[in-house]
Amino acid sequence: MIKIKERLFEPYISEHEILERVASLARNIENDYASKEPLFLAVLNGSFMFMADLTKAINMAVGISFIKIASYQGLHSTGNVKEMIGITESVEGRDIIIVEDIVDSGKSMAYLLKMLQRLHPKSIEIASLLLKPTSLRENFHIKYLGFEIPDFFVVGYGLDFDGFGRNLNQIYRILQK
Ligand code: IMP
Ligand code: MG
Repeated sequence: MIKIKERLFEPYISEHEILERVASLARNIENDYASKEPLFLAVLNGSFMFMADLTKAINMAVGISFIKIASYQGLHSTGNVKEMIGITESVEGRDIIIVEDIVDSGKSMAYLLKMLQRLHPKSIEIASLLLKPTSLRENFHIKYLGFEIPDFFVVGYGLDFDGFGRNLNQIYRILQK
């Protein structure tokens, strides 16, 4: 059990389970992009750990870049996506893999896909560690998905509760009162 700002969280997905799943996603990406030079575009802050482990598990040279958007406040998605750091890399004609920690309502991802499509990449695929299918309000395909989870709040392995807990090496879920 772990306490963050007076809320209790319990272990949910262990580091071992995460890394096993990440390795299997890495194998799929290696096969799919064997003769290509994909650009991994991670969404900060939440995906920093997933991005590091996923790309380290891939046995080929790939491009790495980051953008920063925010839509969450505390425990809830605001639905309003704010762009804090834009794209610094040239995307035109490239094979892009968006790397996300979690797709919840899908609003952030829908925003990102729209924004990227205007820059004419050759292809766009999504790698997301987590998906909450029951919260999803948008329609897109996640080609590389770690885990589907029910609609409860999680922290750790990149994910935060009000700015804390991103450093935890496994995923915890909020303890219901
Ligand atoms: P969406 O736009 O509603 O899909 O929200 C996606 C973003 O909200 C993710 O990139 C996370 O940063 C954040 N988020 C969604 N669910 C959780 C959660 O359970 N814990 C922590 N952050 C979350
Ligand atoms: Mg995020």
